[in-house]
Amino acid sequence: AEKVTFYEAVGGEETFHRLVHRFYQGVADDPDLRALYPEEDLGPAEERLRLFLIQYWGGPTTYSQRRGHPRLRMRHVPFVIGSAERDAWLRHMRVAVDELGLPEPLEKQLWDYFTMAAQSLVNAPT
Ligand code: HEM
Repeated sequence: AEKVTFYEAVGGEETFHRLVHRFYQGVADDPDLRALYPEEDLGPAEERLRLFLIQYWGGPTTYSQRRGHPRLRMRHVPFVIGSAERDAWLRHMRVAVDELGLPEPLEKQLWDYFTMAAQSLVNAPT
């Protein structure tokens, strides 16, 4: 039998839609973090993060069809990301992950990934 992907195990597109939508609600309400996002409309950024995560976790590869190789570190170079920005990003993502109510092993896998990924994108001191 086919191996079930993490994407499928957590509930597919609907789950990633809820996760990333809730995350961006937090960003929208956080003036310090919001200031980093160049576009007035957060909708396109929300879609890019959603498609990236869906692809990363084994779902459809629409992200790379539209955007090419993720190169996340390079794509974050224009933004000053120190520990404060990392922590703010993770705080909003924590709320969004909690609201999914995933079974513990899946939640831990997702959260471990976010903490690792956010740390890897820090590109400024403090
Ligand atoms: C894009 C900030 C961490 C994935 C962006 C953008 C900003 C930003 C300002 C531009 C918005 C846009 O797409 O127009 C941050 C900050 C982080 C962080 C402050 C704190 C560490 C992460 C993490 C991931 C991620 C951990 C993945 C797990 C993405 C993706 C894009 C993006 C996929 C769109 C790339 C593209 O296709 O252009 N981020 N980010 N970011 N971020 Fe982050």
